[in-house]
Amino acid sequence: MTMDSVGGRRYLMCRPTYFAVNYKINPWMDPTAPYDTALAIEQWTKLREVFVDLGHTVEEIDPLPGLPDMVFAANGATVVDGTVLAVQFRDPERADEGPAYRSWFERAGYAVHEAKFVNEGEGDLMLAGDVVLAGTGFRTTHAAHARAQEVLGRPVITLQLVDPRFYHLDTALCVLSGSDGVGPAKVAYLPEAFSPGSQAVLRRLFPDAVLATIEDAEVLGLNAVSDGSTVVLPTQAAGLAEALRERGYRTIGVDMSELRKAGGGPKCCTLELRPGGGADS
Ligand code: ARG
Repeated sequence: MTMDSVGGRRYLMCRPTYFAVNYKINPWMDPTAPYDTALAIEQWTKLREVFVDLGHTVEEIDPLPGLPDMVFAANGATVVDGTVLAVQFRDPERADEGPAYRSWFERAGYAVHEAKFVNEGEGDLMLAGDVVLAGTGFRTTHAAHARAQEVLGRPVITLQLVDPRFYHLDTALCVLSGSDGVGPAKVAYLPEAFSPGSQAVLRRLFPDAVLATIEDAEVLGLNAVSDGSTVVLPTQAAGLAEALRERGYRTIGVDMSELRKAGGGPKCCTLELRPGGGADS
C-alpha cells in the first residue's frame, strides 16, 4: 500500500490564497500591522517545493475565503495509523476550518472520528515513536488528550505549556525522528515553554534531546518538519540549525517571515498523513 512512497512522507497543505492577519488569537498577531498575501504564497510555495524535492508527496486542500488561518494545515486533524481525529477550534474565527478539513478527509475515504472537545490537531498532538505528545494550556484541552488516546490507541502524554507565545506544542517542541511512528523518537524543545513537571517528564523521556534557546524559539525555529534525516526549519533559527547538524541532521532553511505574522512556521503549514493498514509496520 505504501510501496509507491517508500522513504517519502505524505503531507497535506493549504495554499494561503486568503492569508491575512485581521484578528488576534495569539501574541504574534497584530491586526493593525501590514501583511503581504502574495509574499505568504511565495514563501509557502517554496516550502512545498522543498518537500517535493525531498521526495515527499504533498496533497492539497482547497483554501476557503474568510478563513485566513486555513494555511495552517497542522491544525486540520491528527492522522495516526490511517485514523483521523477531527478538530474543534477554541476560537470562533477558526471554527469553520474544522468541517472543511473533515470533509476533505471524508472525500479522501478516511474514517473520521469526532473531536468532541477543543482539539487543534497536530499543532498540539504530535506522534513521537510509539506515543503521542500532547500540549495543553492554551488550546487543546485535557479532555481532548483522553479522547485522542481512545481514538488513536496510542499512549498520550500530557505536556503543560506555560508561555503564551508558544501556545501550540509544535511551537515549543519538534519531533526530529519518529514523527511517522517508526523507531525511537528524538526531539528538540524549549524547556522554559513547559511547566516544571512537564520539563521533568521531557527529561525522563528524552534525556538526549536537543535543547533550543529562546532566540531559536522566538523565530519559531522549533516549528520545523523533520523526516528523520532532513529538518526543514525557519532560516532565522541559525543556532538550532547548527545544533541539529552537529547531531547529524541535514538542515534546510525556509523563510516563513510572512506567515510568522500569524504565529506560524513550516510545521504549522504541514499535516502529516500517516498510513495505516499494517503494511508499513
Ligand atoms: N493564527 C493561528 C492560530 O493562532 C496560527 C496557527 C499556527 N499553527 C500551529 N500549528 N502552531 O491559531
